[in-house]
Amino acid sequence: MPSLETTYLGLSLKNPLIASSCPLTSNLGDAKQLEAAGVGGLVVRSIFEEQIREEVAGMYEALSDAGTSAALDYLRADLPMQLGPEKYIANLRELRKGLKIPVIASINCIAADQWVSFARKIQHAGADALELNVYDIPDDPAVDSAAIEARHTRLIAAIQREVSIPVAVKLSPYYTGLAHFARDLDRLPVRGLVLFNRFLQPDIDIETLELVYEVHRSHPDDLRLPLRWIAILRNLVRCDLALSSGVHSAEAAIKALLAGANAVYCCSALYRKPEGSVIREILDGLNAWMTRHDFASIDAFRGRMRERELGDGRGFERAHYVRLVGRT
Ligand SMILES: Cc1cc2nc3c(=O)[nH]c(=O)nc-3n(C[C@H](O)[C@H](O)[C@H](O)COP(=O)(O)O)c2cc1C
Repeated sequence: MPSLETTYLGLSLKNPLIASSCPLTSNLGDAKQLEAAGVGGLVVRSIFEEQIREEVAGMYEALSDAGTSAALDYLRADLPMQLGPEKYIANLRELRKGLKIPVIASINCIAADQWVSFARKIQHAGADALELNVYDIPDDPAVDSAAIEARHTRLIAAIQREVSIPVAVKLSPYYTGLAHFARDLDRLPVRGLVLFNRFLQPDIDIETLELVYEVHRSHPDDLRLPLRWIAILRNLVRCDLALSSGVHSAEAAIKALLAGANAVYCCSALYRKPEGSVIREILDGLNAWMTRHDFASIDAFRGRMRERELGDGRGFERAHYVRLVGRT
């Protein structure tokens, strides 16, 4: 029987399959089901920067009715430190207490420089690691890509300074110089990069002429984009890499590992009924494939298909496309 044990962000996992951040991972009942189904770890649903802001803003309002003594002024100034995403922290404590697998907390942030100390609360609540979900739609034409990347790097570095638990960064695929940016983050150093986040893309209802905000789940073909970038980045960064997007089967998980992923995230497929049943299916498929190929451990094949010869046209980069398109 092959061993699926591995490490991710320095955490020991019984297997590389991680339930990705979503509502299922923040409800203790669902999380226990995922654990029983066999996931190696889970990432809790993100706390949104906006939620933290709201909580703090509410408290400011309450304080504004309470006079202006020096003590109150101090309290106002220090509010972001005193307050916190209390519900999130309580939920995190409950999850940590109720589960045996590693629990990774997640902050959805854009420019939360003043909120970085909340990361410490997350650590105190017992999170085994922290994932920063950088969710930015840079729509200001006056700001160039170097400035955006520098802002993101500053934010990540500031949060990282606050905690001693490992920090991973979940990226969008929209960076112009992704390889360069990934290397900058690796040099901070972050412990892991998660490729990729999927932004909520609003739709338009053509009858009501309103915007429609709906969560859309991934398709198995969505695997191709992170697969390429895991394969490319594997040789360029030292930190761990996790693949997120389009993992719906054992085959997808195997491909992610072959490209060089240290962990394989699964989210949309968890919603297939009964919830979480896909976990068993993926782990059984991975086991059977490793047995068939005589791989005793994940390390025996991880990264075998990573990009070795960047630029020679035989790998994951552009030249292949030219040949393929030329044939059709
Ligand atoms: C219902 C739902 C809620 C999600 N919530 C979060 C979240 O809070 N934080 C986050 O980083 N990603 C969130 N995601 C993104 C997933 O964690 C995952 O990265 C993305 O869906 C791609 O993986 P998949 O193809 O396995 O679904 C959410 C996805 C879904 C479908």
